[in-house]
Amino acid sequence: CGIVAYLGEQEACPIVLKGLKRLEYRGYDSAGVALIHQNNLSVFKKKGKVTDLEKHLADKAITGSIGMGHTRWATHGEPNDINAHPHFSSDSRLALIHNGIIENYATIRQELMHKGHQFLGQTDSEVLVHFIEQIQKENQCSLFEAVRIALNEVVGAYAIVVMSADDPNQLLAARKSSPLVIGIGKDQKEFWLASDATPIIEYTNEVVYLDDHQIAILQKGSMEIKDISNVPTTPYIQYLDLTLDAIEKGGFDSFMLKEIFEQPESVHNCLRGRLIAEKGHLQLGGINKYIDRLLYAKRIIILGCGTSWHAGLVAEYIFEELARIPVEVEYASEFRYRNPIIYPDDAVIAISQSGETADTLAAIELAKSKGATIFGVCNVVGSSIARATHEGAYTHAGPEIGVASTKAFTAQVTVLLMMALMIAKKRQNVAEAQFSELLYELESIPEKIAKTLKINEEIEKIAHIYQHSSNMIYLGRGYNFPVALEGALKLKEISYIHAEGYPAAEMKHGPIALIDEEMPVVFIAIKDNSYEKVVSNIQEVKARKGRVIAIVNEGDNLISSMADHVIEIPATYDVLTPLLTVIPLQLLAYHIAVLRGCNVDQPRNLAKSVTVE
Ligand code: G6P
Repeated sequence: CGIVAYLGEQEACPIVLKGLKRLEYRGYDSAGVALIHQNNLSVFKKKGKVTDLEKHLADKAITGSIGMGHTRWATHGEPNDINAHPHFSSDSRLALIHNGIIENYATIRQELMHKGHQFLGQTDSEVLVHFIEQIQKENQCSLFEAVRIALNEVVGAYAIVVMSADDPNQLLAARKSSPLVIGIGKDQKEFWLASDATPIIEYTNEVVYLDDHQIAILQKGSMEIKDISNVPTTPYIQYLDLTLDAIEKGGFDSFMLKEIFEQPESVHNCLRGRLIAEKGHLQLGGINKYIDRLLYAKRIIILGCGTSWHAGLVAEYIFEELARIPVEVEYASEFRYRNPIIYPDDAVIAISQSGETADTLAAIELAKSKGATIFGVCNVVGSSIARATHEGAYTHAGPEIGVASTKAFTAQVTVLLMMALMIAKKRQNVAEAQFSELLYELESIPEKIAKTLKINEEIEKIAHIYQHSSNMIYLGRGYNFPVALEGALKLKEISYIHAEGYPAAEMKHGPIALIDEEMPVVFIAIKDNSYEKVVSNIQEVKARKGRVIAIVNEGDNLISSMADHVIEIPATYDVLTPLLTVIPLQLLAYHIAVLRGCNVDQPRNLAKSVTVE
């Protein structure tokens, strides 16, 4: 989500709208603004893009020199006018915008309902503004004090801005784990607030990045910052020297690279609130009513396209190993035009980042018409596929802008792993101790992804050597055969080099004929249960003078003595390895494409969301 606010001498609305457009890359399913004019608060919000909001505002009175706006990427509640931000209190005097997730919102909501609060929508953010209102009423305190008390009670992540018609010259802002920047105007007569500096940079380069647990109190002519224990702090003012484009991409050269590097965080977000290893807790809130259909399914059919289909293939190995249920993975486009045999005790899992892929949607409708229960694994909340399925679990990876999917894939695999583990536990297919070990290991995966990303520079060097190749082969076995397919797809998509992914053992039935001294072969050769076999496959390639790039575990001397290049990654349990092995392949494709001068974010002929068949 994106946040923008303004306080000063100018009209707030145009500044806020312009800022929201700059932040649209952070999410764009609904948008809204709140303005205060002469002790009156008005709130306008609309499903859709900022331009839809702008049209909606065309005939409205939008005066006011204090205002704020929000562009939303839904996490709770479907994208619609009501769930859009800003949210307001029962008496409509207080408005709030929020980025992040309030994890204990359900409990707070319950308490507030006992006290007579009624909620219009389903969001955690609406609960927070009512909570602040209630605290202010009960304690007869200042708005700052009410916000401070509320934030001491809240569990989760937030960047918020609050304004009140009763304090028409004040903006309050606070953050924890979600970014918030304050832009400072001349003599502090004006302030801008935003999720990043993009909406601010054209007005001022003097900014303060709010720290976790800090609350800023902004009034015309003054800025005060306190922490949530009420201790004042001295703001650290920075002077930015950045272009707009660089800020949007968080300092990275492209969205794709930013998204690759976001993976420790996106996988963490995907696990958040769902897995607590210490307590042996694993729960996907969205899969509940129909869980028995999954638990007692005779067969699971997984549907998807592109990278989502690859995540499905990884899941086939995972589900069969852990949950002991037979799995079939189907291209949605093939499935929909067959006359597929679907039994009432089949469960279908549909995977889609965008939630809008036409083939996947049509395949779901077909399976539904034959009586199957469908579970969705989508990234975009409230998307068509999320709505068409019976139940599902969101991946919570945040907006993915780069056309080649990266962080969505690791989040999909993470959700599917949690599903398989949940079923395995309930079906008693895993021993208590093994279950617990897997939970701990999965919890530590974001850290291991962060460690894996440190090989970036080495991969760039390898990319220099192979940038002019016209073909490449990717090989892996078991859980990492689908990762080999995904590695080859990444390279094809963004560098336009022809690449093939194959199960390593199948190489001898065909692709081995292609191998000569010109052919780079990428092996996923980590120490899992097929390690020795992969070592033999490497020798077969070396015997034919192929060039071997091997992804290995740290300290693997055997393969480093055979391969032309080794890329070392941390060890983990076999079932979790795809979450690490895919990272170097994403980076390799990225660097080769950049060196070839390709537009990695918008590769030719491809679309992010394919809504035609
Ligand atoms: C397009 C994208 C791919 C994506 C595929 C499936 O081809 O370019 O990156 O994997 O669609 O999209 P979905 O949104 O359903 O995951």
